Amino acid sequence: MPKTKSLLITGGAGFIGSHLCIHLVEKYPDYHVVNLDKLTYAGNLENLKPIENCQNYTFVKGDITDAETIRRLFEKYDFSGVFHLAAESHVDRSIESPNEFAMTNVLGTLNLLNAARVQWGEKTEGKMFYHISTDEVYGSLGDTGLFREDTPYDPRSPYSASKASSDHFVRAYYHTYGLPVVISNCSNNYGPLQFPEKLIPLVINNILQKRELPVYGDGKNVRDWLYVSDHISAMDLIFHKGKAGETYNIGGDNEMQNIELVRNLCDITDELLGREKGFARSLITFVKDRPGHDRRYAIDAGKIKKTLGWAPATSATEGLRSTVNWYLNNQDWLNRVTSGAYKKYYEKFYGS
Ligand code: NAD
Ligand code: DAU
Repeated sequence: MPKTKSLLITGGAGFIGSHLCIHLVEKYPDYHVVNLDKLTYAGNLENLKPIENCQNYTFVKGDITDAETIRRLFEKYDFSGVFHLAAESHVDRSIESPNEFAMTNVLGTLNLLNAARVQWGEKTEGKMFYHISTDEVYGSLGDTGLFREDTPYDPRSPYSASKASSDHFVRAYYHTYGLPVVISNCSNNYGPLQFPEKLIPLVINNILQKRELPVYGDGKNVRDWLYVSDHISAMDLIFHKGKAGETYNIGGDNEMQNIELVRNLCDITDELLGREKGFARSLITFVKDRPGHDRRYAIDAGKIKKTLGWAPATSATEGLRSTVNWYLNNQDWLNRVTSGAYKKYYEKFYGS
């Protein structure tokens, strides 16, 4: 089949990226999808098994901090679109190693912007550079209020500072060079294939292992949870229908305190495993808070709903249940990704 678009996905072996690659390859057989990923601890080619032999999919192992690799890739595949997801994504790791976050998230983004600018030149018709960002750039909310697209940036962790910086560069390339860019800032994603350093898979894995469930601080920090396939549907719309130069906030209208979420996961997991109710809850342990821990995130997704007709399709009840189910049915996957380096990470951060 002749190809109508050649797309670059960066970070396509990570959690959200692998869902996106599978979606694009299966939904658009007339697109050629090139997945560029460094395969850090967070990248896993096993996630891409369903598409690995598809004729409209190519995997390239490479590092976005290497400008020459990026330049050659643009020359070779003549991309008309970019979905840029590659990043160091875990807040706790950014507190330990901020420089890596600046390198990948800022310099890596800059390399991609430069390559797109050189390759596209004045011929920007039909081109789009889509930068995938986070709600964390807006900082921390009190008990009320929502993040809107015009909320001033106030990043407070090295991770969010690096994402905020990359967002500014992306906007600067739109205003200065006329590069067609679009940005989305999304709330916390969850679902299958998420690396178990993040709260939801970490809790499910620890329940399975009968280990303590570490809840930071008083457990009352609030996140706005979105099932990953709802993020993918938003990204598809933004890439195809979004307006260059615009920003879209994406969220699940699904605020939960961490402790409420953890208790919920405990009850679902006990039920699905046929364990006595209350067993998993007995593993909950309040531990030292994350430094600079943002109190509350919540998104006003009114713009994408109104202008692009997007809405999340998965309720929290459905999404959490199917997520727990997936991890219980894929314990081999969990065991593989938590062996080796993850063990050392866990011991260093959590002490046992
Ligand atoms: P992830 O950590 O699961 O995956 C990141 C991927 O990027 C991995 O496959 C990794 O190998 C790759 N990568 C890292 N450094 C690289 C480099 N230098 N060169 C090439 N590849 C590299 O992350 P995720 O949770 O899937 O997040 C994807 C993107 O979405 C990130 O940009 C993140 O900031 C953003 N985001 C995530 C969430 C969330 O809740 N997970 C919410 C909003 C926005
Ligand atoms: O808001 C979007 C962001 O969501 C993304 O940009 C990030 O890439 C993604 O990692 C996520 O950041 P958070 O810091 O919110 O996610 P995390 O899963 O690390 O933590 C969720 C909440 O749970 C947060 O308040 C910290 C808390 N937590 C986390 C861990 C890992 C705990 O209480 N215990 C834990 O062990």
